[in-house]
Amino acid sequence: MCGIVGYIGGDQAAPVLLSGLEKLEYRGYDSAGVAVYDGTSLKVVKAKGRLKVLSDLIDGGKKTPGTIGIGHTRWATHGAPSDINSHPQVSDSGRFAVVHNGIIENYMALKEMLVRKGKTFVSETDTEVVAQLLEYYYQGDILDAMIRVLQKVEGSYALGVISQDNPDELVAVRKDSPLIVGLGEGENYIASDVPAILNKTRDIYRLNDREIVVLRRDSVKIYNMDKELVSKEVCHIDWDVSAAEKGGYEHFMAKEIMEQPKVLRDTISPRLKDGKIVLDSISLTAEDLKSFSKICIVACGSAYHVGVVAKYVFEKVMRIPVDVDLASEFRYRDPMVDKSTLVLVISQSGETADTLAALREAKRRGARTLSIVNVVGSSIANESDDVIYTWAGPEIAVATTKAYSAQLAVVYLLAIYMGQLNGKLDSQQVASYIAALEKLPEQVEEVLQDKENVQYLASLFFNARDVFFIGRNLDYAMSLEGSLKLKEISYIHSDAYAAGELKHGTISLIENGTLVIALATQNPLFDKMMSNVKEVKARGAIVLGMAVQGNTQIENFADHVIYIPETCDIMLPSLAVIPLQLFSYYVSSMKGCDIDKPRNLAKSVTVE
Ligand code: G6P
Repeated sequence: MCGIVGYIGGDQAAPVLLSGLEKLEYRGYDSAGVAVYDGTSLKVVKAKGRLKVLSDLIDGGKKTPGTIGIGHTRWATHGAPSDINSHPQVSDSGRFAVVHNGIIENYMALKEMLVRKGKTFVSETDTEVVAQLLEYYYQGDILDAMIRVLQKVEGSYALGVISQDNPDELVAVRKDSPLIVGLGEGENYIASDVPAILNKTRDIYRLNDREIVVLRRDSVKIYNMDKELVSKEVCHIDWDVSAAEKGGYEHFMAKEIMEQPKVLRDTISPRLKDGKIVLDSISLTAEDLKSFSKICIVACGSAYHVGVVAKYVFEKVMRIPVDVDLASEFRYRDPMVDKSTLVLVISQSGETADTLAALREAKRRGARTLSIVNVVGSSIANESDDVIYTWAGPEIAVATTKAYSAQLAVVYLLAIYMGQLNGKLDSQQVASYIAALEKLPEQVEEVLQDKENVQYLASLFFNARDVFFIGRNLDYAMSLEGSLKLKEISYIHSDAYAAGELKHGTISLIENGTLVIALATQNPLFDKMMSNVKEVKARGAIVLGMAVQGNTQIENFADHVIYIPETCDIMLPSLAVIPLQLFSYYVSSMKGCDIDKPRNLAKSVTVE
């Protein structure tokens, strides 16, 4: 949430900052700004609106001279999007400029203290206190000042700082909010995510909490809070640059939807060897598994919806009770987890603040933790007892698609692996699940080939005011994701209901012409689903149904039908989700919405 880029080197900084920020706009895009030292003083330019507004203002950076600078693209938390509240924030005298991701929780108390000392604040942001504090504590050594500031502030932060008094140094630090350091030749960078600097360098340092980095043109030094030097291993990023580019597609979301067969292959294939599931990276033993009385899953957003699928899958395959919690609720309900609980944490970014907090709460209570994460070296990956990576590559569109699919694949792998370990699956069942898993990527390809049909259906309904998704069992879990996808990128009001629950209230909203998307891929529940379809049809709904190929009976009930190939019941969600993603994408495109950067949303939510 919010994007940070910093540069120090021999080139003009502002164009480098703008090009990095462009890659980070998915993290926040309500305003943007840069601060550059021009040889005499710090020059700050900020603008409400998309990055383009800022870029036009400074002619792509050309109008802003200087070879050291920091830039920011914002997702507002404290204070509405405005020029003043944009970052960088500066100190009273303008000598310190700061960009910040996260929230300084005690900023009010600090602000009052600073006002008493005579400082004048101009913005409503929490970040301004950091700039003011730096100036207040500065006595000639910026590192000392930074350490004093960090002793005062509470909350989460990734900070980038430049100062007029130290024009050869860029200082940065993080706590509970991601920040990396990019290492170049005669130039160095900071960024809140790798894509921002990928066209400049592939060698990075990942900072741990409260490690302070001091970048000069030709050196990078990392210190701890005792001002001792910390040594760190260089991490080499080996993704293809094109992985973070649109590659000919109109939107990242389209590209990422189409990449799903490859992502599934990359996530599944390395874990299948000689007809067995091999998860070398995790240390769970059969003994450990026997000691668990339940599994508790925590996540947010679409990752939570993967958790809802996982509940059905684990309970069926492993016969163990499973709770699924929204991470934002988990730690405030005195959760009943202890060492007999396996807590499974699911997160694409590995940085979602609520999910990270839930993980820490689970660990504090003695639970064993296992995470499913896409970003290598992220906070959740680092802090979990075990981690299984989804190999989805960088996901740029705010609405997740390929990372969601990769998470589902890991859920199946885990379920089969653990079902085998705890003796609930025999070798025949394992073999048939593995065969289904191996076929999944090509089946997803087949579903993607039907995209014109989905596009046609989208053209019928893109003007809908309300859409209801219904399903039972795993189809209910899919309804949740289908509905979220549609509302987040098309701004159409939509809701998901367990089909049997509709009649307990929500059916009163169905009227002539209301679109109901009825997922009926689970054959054993097909008849029950069709009863629910009849109920809504009787009240005037238009029904778009989804069923597995061969089950043409659905045509007797629904107005329009999407078919998906047959596979074992637990893996149907991986096929069912594809038309739902495509439907949302096309509806959003026909409505002219900003598909990759929907309003009010951010990709990585690093505030609670
Ligand atoms: C944001 C994104 C969602 C995502 C959720 C959890 O809200 O827009 O797509 O599902 O965060 O993110 P995570 O990185 O933890 O999976």
